[in-house]
Amino acid sequence: MTSSTTTQQLPIGQVASQLGQTVTLVGWVDTKRDHGKLTFIDLRDRTGKLQCVGFQMMGELTTESVISVTGLVKERPAKLVNANVINGNIEFEVKAYEILNPAKELPILVEGDGREVSEEVRLRYRYLDLRRERMRNIVKLRSDYFRALREALYEQNFTEVETPMLTKSTKEGARDFVVPSRFQPGKFYALPQSPQQYKQLLMTAGVERYFQFARCIRDEDLRADRGFEFTQLDLELSFVERDDVMQTVESMVKSAVKAVGGKLKAETFPVVDYQDAMAKYGADRFDLRSEEDKANGVLAFAWVVNFPFFKQVDKADAAEVRDGKSGWTFTHNPFSAPLPEHQEMLLKGEQIGEILTTQYDLVCNGYEVGGGSIRAHRPELLAATFKVMGYSDEEIRDSVGHMLDAFEVGTPPHGGIALGLDRMVMLLAGETSLKEVIAFPMTASGRTAVMDAPSPVTDEQLAELHLKVINK
Ligand code: AMO
Repeated sequence: MTSSTTTQQLPIGQVASQLGQTVTLVGWVDTKRDHGKLTFIDLRDRTGKLQCVGFQMMGELTTESVISVTGLVKERPAKLVNANVINGNIEFEVKAYEILNPAKELPILVEGDGREVSEEVRLRYRYLDLRRERMRNIVKLRSDYFRALREALYEQNFTEVETPMLTKSTKEGARDFVVPSRFQPGKFYALPQSPQQYKQLLMTAGVERYFQFARCIRDEDLRADRGFEFTQLDLELSFVERDDVMQTVESMVKSAVKAVGGKLKAETFPVVDYQDAMAKYGADRFDLRSEEDKANGVLAFAWVVNFPFFKQVDKADAAEVRDGKSGWTFTHNPFSAPLPEHQEMLLKGEQIGEILTTQYDLVCNGYEVGGGSIRAHRPELLAATFKVMGYSDEEIRDSVGHMLDAFEVGTPPHGGIALGLDRMVMLLAGETSLKEVIAFPMTASGRTAVMDAPSPVTDEQLAELHLKVINK
């Protein structure tokens, strides 16, 4: 049963509406100044700050303690009004207060932008680091952006569906994180590098328009724009061609970027041919901003299309060597369809280096922020891709037999995309590291924030999982 007597906390940002009233507020002691018998504190919550004045009290308070204060909301004397800050025209005359949780001396400062603190220390005390205004704004921006994307998708009649986290290797071209099975000795799950195959199976299932804010896990070398775990906005549509997907995504991204106050360089994203991009920029992700755009925090999106489907295996890359037994491997996604005019080449396994894929990448300010394609939805086409990579019929059945089966029971033509949301929020926030936009990111050496992982497990746990650690 819902109660009508639930006490609603008065947000500090709304205290001005209670002028002349006695109210109770809660929050953190942001700053404290003692002036003889008077003690001033700024009380802070997620919505703002308020100057509170205590007469012969509050001297014991330490900054960042959590308190509750009861008192009178008053107008400030005219000469003390600060029109530039929230609540700059009012102050709070404290009558009584209670310490809900005292703060001892803090290991890191909460004021300032935190950039002077070492990464290891910032992440160890991330719960304090997140209290700083810069980080709170980013946490909110991320939430607002996700909300705007979600709303745009619901508007377009998409259905949100979750897919498994304990699954089989998903062939996104990175190493898997594996999870041992307790029930089946010697067998392992893989954490999903993406929901690629499940989202395609949802098209077979008749969902037609799917999306998910998907957590993806890849064992890759870490970089400022690459983490072990990251979040994709993953989507897939049935009965579409390349331009349909690109248009749907472009309009969704534009509306969400605008909803959070982002500035776009162009209303229509330029579409650049892969060959032209390589010739002009020397890379398939490029930055179209002028110096002035950069200064103004503008986002310059562009599409890149007509990528080669296959490339020669890089012998230094373990995942590529494993996938590309013939010396050829996919550039982006083995589940893609080639351009319609290149289908015959793929089916015959001829002129492999010339086959172009339906892949489209979305780039922004020099980063790849998304990628997708129209998929092979006929079994012979998917099998041909794996044949090019040197898989035998048996190996093809073994690795994608379940997809081939699904493609024989009425799978519509389909295509989709995944957007790298951490990268997008990083650009919206004007940051250059993903760590700044993830609540609890890992350190550069792959250690978790706050908690200490990876860490050893007990011999009992190992035995239960039928594992033995060698060279411990
Ligand atoms: P892809 O592998 O290109 O495609 O991933 C899509 C987008 O996700 C982001 N991204 C990452 N962000 C942070 N850290 C990482 N390690 C990382 N890896 C990728 C990038 C990238 O553009 N299943 C396909 C999508 C599809 O075809 O629909 C896929 O996962 O911004």
